[in-house]
Amino acid sequence: MTDLTVSISSIKMDNPSMLASGILDETGDSLLRMMSVGAGAVVTKSIGMLPHDGHPNPCIVETADGYVNAMGLPNPGMEEFAEELRVIMPTPAPVIASIYASSAADFATIAVSMEEAGAAGIELNLSCPHASGFGMEVGTDPATVGSIVAAVKDAVKVPVMAKLTPNTAELVRIGKAVEEAGGDAVVAINTLKAMVISPEFARPVLSNRYGGLSGSAIKPVGVRAVYDLYRELEIPIVGVGGICGWRDAAEYIMAGATCFQVGSAVGTVGPEVFTRIIEGLEAFMGEYGYPDLDSMRGAAHE
Ligand SMILES: Cc1cc2nc3c(=O)[nH]c(=O)nc-3n(C[C@H](O)[C@H](O)[C@H](O)COP(=O)(O)O)c2cc1C
Repeated sequence: MTDLTVSISSIKMDNPSMLASGILDETGDSLLRMMSVGAGAVVTKSIGMLPHDGHPNPCIVETADGYVNAMGLPNPGMEEFAEELRVIMPTPAPVIASIYASSAADFATIAVSMEEAGAAGIELNLSCPHASGFGMEVGTDPATVGSIVAAVKDAVKVPVMAKLTPNTAELVRIGKAVEEAGGDAVVAINTLKAMVISPEFARPVLSNRYGGLSGSAIKPVGVRAVYDLYRELEIPIVGVGGICGWRDAAEYIMAGATCFQVGSAVGTVGPEVFTRIIEGLEAFMGEYGYPDLDSMRGAAHE
């Protein structure tokens, strides 16, 4: 029997798959649906202090095998979202609340509200490439990242993970700052800053002009990011970017990921993608003699 159970501090999961932030995760019902199709944990849409509309349409464009999006962090705000979480608690799999803010104090306030509503963990969005004053803009300076992680760790008991941007040459230094500030895990990667232009209109398609590329094309970037982080960090790494099938998940685990997240493929393949990945991974591990995830993690470094 292959053992697919895994944990990140107190977050215990039946399998290493998680729903990535921002995809079918804005309501309690959609979070429960992703658990029912096999997600080992679900990460919510990034939630801020106050309700926020995000960018006007068009805010997402389909590419060959993914998306370029500039949603602009639309969300109902922490009070309303906390209510959404409260009504579904307790859940069959852990809910990790993704949050964003522009200061360490605001991050801590939102984290407390999500913990009180039943979140089993907090994911700090330090990496959105298309929200002015938030995301990547606060996530590319190691000292700022360290102070945000430390403030949130002081404020909550549940594990705190920091989601990193690939749009920097400082990825590993930022990961180190998370670890030194007491962060429980890093999540890599968010989308790559990108643009799509309409030749007919001679303009960028997205209202925000810039967006973030996700889907299969970014997988090798994500795998490389996890590989680099694994060489330098002790804390667990959650791999994300372009995972559509079990082979992709296996690559991330062999690069050093403890868990992995699936985003765009929930749209391009469908929610059943979780069941397919887990069944495929289990069959591969059985065939190649990996009894559990520990025995497979980081194999590509040997
Ligand atoms: C439509 C859309 C919305 C997203 N919203 C968020 C978000 O609110 N917070 C966040 O941290 N990441 C967000 N992401 C990034 C994903 O969580 C993930 O990091 C990225 O899409 C790469 O994974 P994938 O290739 O599996 O989609 C979003 C991605 C997409 C496509």
